[in-house]
Amino acid sequence: MKKEPKRYTITSALPYANGPVHIGHLAGVYVPADIYARYLRNNGKEVLFLGGSDEHGVPITLKARKEGVTPQDIVDRYHNIIKESFKELGISFDIYSRTSNPTHHETAAAFFTKLYNEGKLIEQTSQQYYDEEAKQFLADRYITGECPHCHNEKAYGDQCEACGATLNATDLINPKSTLSGNPPVMKETKHWYLPLDQYEPWLKEWILEGHKEDWKVNVYGQCKSWIEAGLHPRAVTRDLSWGVKVPLKEAEGKVLYVWFDAPIGYISATKEWTAAQGRSDWEKWWKDEETELVHFIGKDNIVFHCIIFPCMLKADGSYILPENVPANEFLNLEGEKISTSRNWAVWLHEYLREFPGKQDSLRYMLTSIAPETKDADFTWSDFQAKNNNELLAIFGNFVNRTVALTHKYYGGVIPEMGPVTDLEKEVLEQIRQFPQRIGDSVERYRFREAQAELMNLARLGNKYLTETEPWKKQKEDPDYVRSILHISLQICASLSILCEPFLPFTAEKLQKMLNISNKKWIDGGRTDLLKAGDTINTPEFLFVKVEDEAIAAQVKKLEDAKKANALANAPATPAKDDITYDEFQKMDLRVVTVLEAERVPKTKKLLKLKVNTGVDEREIVSGIAEFYEPEKLVGQQVLMLINLAPKEIKGVKSHGMVLMAANADGSLALMQPGKEVNAGSTVQ
Ligand code: 2FM
Ligand code: ZN
Repeated sequence: MKKEPKRYTITSALPYANGPVHIGHLAGVYVPADIYARYLRNNGKEVLFLGGSDEHGVPITLKARKEGVTPQDIVDRYHNIIKESFKELGISFDIYSRTSNPTHHETAAAFFTKLYNEGKLIEQTSQQYYDEEAKQFLADRYITGECPHCHNEKAYGDQCEACGATLNATDLINPKSTLSGNPPVMKETKHWYLPLDQYEPWLKEWILEGHKEDWKVNVYGQCKSWIEAGLHPRAVTRDLSWGVKVPLKEAEGKVLYVWFDAPIGYISATKEWTAAQGRSDWEKWWKDEETELVHFIGKDNIVFHCIIFPCMLKADGSYILPENVPANEFLNLEGEKISTSRNWAVWLHEYLREFPGKQDSLRYMLTSIAPETKDADFTWSDFQAKNNNELLAIFGNFVNRTVALTHKYYGGVIPEMGPVTDLEKEVLEQIRQFPQRIGDSVERYRFREAQAELMNLARLGNKYLTETEPWKKQKEDPDYVRSILHISLQICASLSILCEPFLPFTAEKLQKMLNISNKKWIDGGRTDLLKAGDTINTPEFLFVKVEDEAIAAQVKKLEDAKKANALANAPATPAKDDITYDEFQKMDLRVVTVLEAERVPKTKKLLKLKVNTGVDEREIVSGIAEFYEPEKLVGQQVLMLINLAPKEIKGVKSHGMVLMAANADGSLALMQPGKEVNAGSTVQ
C-alpha cells in the first residue's frame, strides 16, 4: 500500500506569455489542477498549488520583433492579462509567478551550474545556421524556406505548418533568415547537453515498470514510445539573447533552452512563495519523500515533464520525482482545432468580460467535456444546454425550490425532522456515500466522472422533491413536509460543500444562503449539518440562463474570425502578362480632387462624382457606394485613369475610372496619394 503523503506539490504548466489563455488551456490543465488542489485542501491536506508565466522562448522574441517592442514588453502585457483572468475564474494558485523574475534566473542558473560542476552535462560543438548581417545564430523559428515535403515556401526551421511535418532547419530548401532575409551560413557553435541516453535504463525501471498501472494510458504510451525509440543527448543551451544567461564565462551570448528553465520555474515559484511568508523551507516541497509531486499538463508537454525534467531532477539527485502526470488530450472548438494564429479560440479574458458572473458555468462546461482520454469538442450550443438544462434546471432549481419553500412555510427557520418512510431512509443513506464516491474519482484524476457524481446528488434532491411534492401535502400532512424539507436542506448543505472544487463561486453563495462555513469534505456526507431551529437566508439565484442572443453573438464572432482569416490568407490573383513601357504610357493616370459626390438613384453600389482632373471638371460614376459615404469624399484626392473611353452608366456620362484596390472579400478601397498634390498631377 502506498503511504499517505504528508503534503502535495501541484504544478500546472506555465503558459507562454505571448498570448492570453483560452478554453483549451483551461480544460486541459488549469481547471482540473484547481479541482484537485481545492479537493485536497478541503480534505485538510497541506497543498502548494503552483502556476506562473513561461516568459522565455523564441516565439516571444519573434512577436516582439514583429511589433517593434521588447520581449519584456510582450511578457509584461500577457503575464498580467493571464494572471488576472486566472484569478477571476477562481483558479486558486498559492502563487502565480513568472520566469523573468530574478529568483528564477538565479535558481535556473544555479541548477545548471550544479549539473555542470558535477560533470552531468556534456559539451558538444556543432554547425548551426548563422546570419552574417545580423551577427546572430538562428533559432529554428528564425529560418524559413521551402518544405521538402509539400513545397510550401513559408515552412519554419522546425516545422511546416502547411503539411505538419517536423523539420530540421537543414531540411529546408533555399533557407532564409527572417532577420535579414539573407541565406544563412553554417558556423560552429558550442553547446551543453543533458545525456538522456544515460538515463534510459533508469527511465525504463521508473516509468515503464514503476508506473504502468497508475499513469494514464496516453501518458504511459507516449513515454514508452519515446524511450523505446532510443533517447539522445539533448541540448540545454541556445544561441539567443532572451532567456536565462548560461552561467559560464565561455558562454557569452547563450541562454538556457526554454524547456530547461521553464520547469525549474516551479521550484523558483516555491522559493518565492516561502520567502514571501518570511520562511526558507521551500525544500520540503521538493526534496522530502513524503511530499507528493503532481504535474498537470497538456499532451504536448508529456515528454518534457515525464522524461526530460525528471532526468534533470535525477541528475541533480536531491529532488523527488513526480508521482503522477495526469496529462490531458486537446480540446477542439466547434469541430476544429483551436488555433491562436487563426483566432479560432474562446479567450478567457474575453469570456469573463462577455459573461460576467458566469465563471462556474464555464468551469462546469469544461469539466463536463474534459479531454481526459481523447480529444473533446466545445460548442457554444452545448455550453448553453449545460448551463440551462443542467446547472440551472437541476442544481439551481432544486436549491431554489428548497430554500423558497423553507421561507414560505417556516419563515426561513430549518424545520425539525418529522416522520420518515423508507424513501427518506434510502435518500439519507445515499447522501452519506457522496463524499467518498466523488473523492475516489478525483483521486484517480477522473474529474469528469467526479463532477457527474456531484450532479447526481443534485438530481437525487430534485427527484426527491418532485416525487414527494411537499407543495401538495403541506395542508394535509405538515409533519411529513417538515421531513421532506429538512432532508432537502441537508442535501443543499452537502451540495454546497461537495461542489466547492468544481463550482467555487456557487459553493460560496450557497453556503452563505445556508449560513454554514468552514466545513470539511467529509461533512458533505453528513445528514445533520443543518440544525433545526437555525435560520437560512433568502434565496438567491445560483445560476442565470444563457440566452440565445448571447450564443448567437459568440457564433458570429467565430464566423467573423473565419472570414478574417480566409481574407488574410487569400491567394493573390495570378500576375498578368508583361506589357511594354509604351503600352503603360498610353494610360493617363492622374490625381484628381472630388468636388461633389452623390448616390446614383435606385442603385446600391454607384456614386456619381464630379472631379477636378486638372485639365477639366467632369462627371464619372464609380462603384464604391457600399464602402464610402458621399459627403466624406468631397475634397478628397483619388487616383483616376482619365483617358478611359466615356460610357453612359444609368443615364450619366462617365468619363474615366477611379482606381481602387479590390480585396478578396469584394471590398474596395480607393487609391489615394500619401500627401496632397495639385489636382491633375500625373501618376508615373
Ligand atoms: O507548452 C507550453 O505552453 C509551455 N510554456 C509549458 C511549460 S510547462 C513548464 F515546464 F514550465
Ligand atoms: Zn510541408
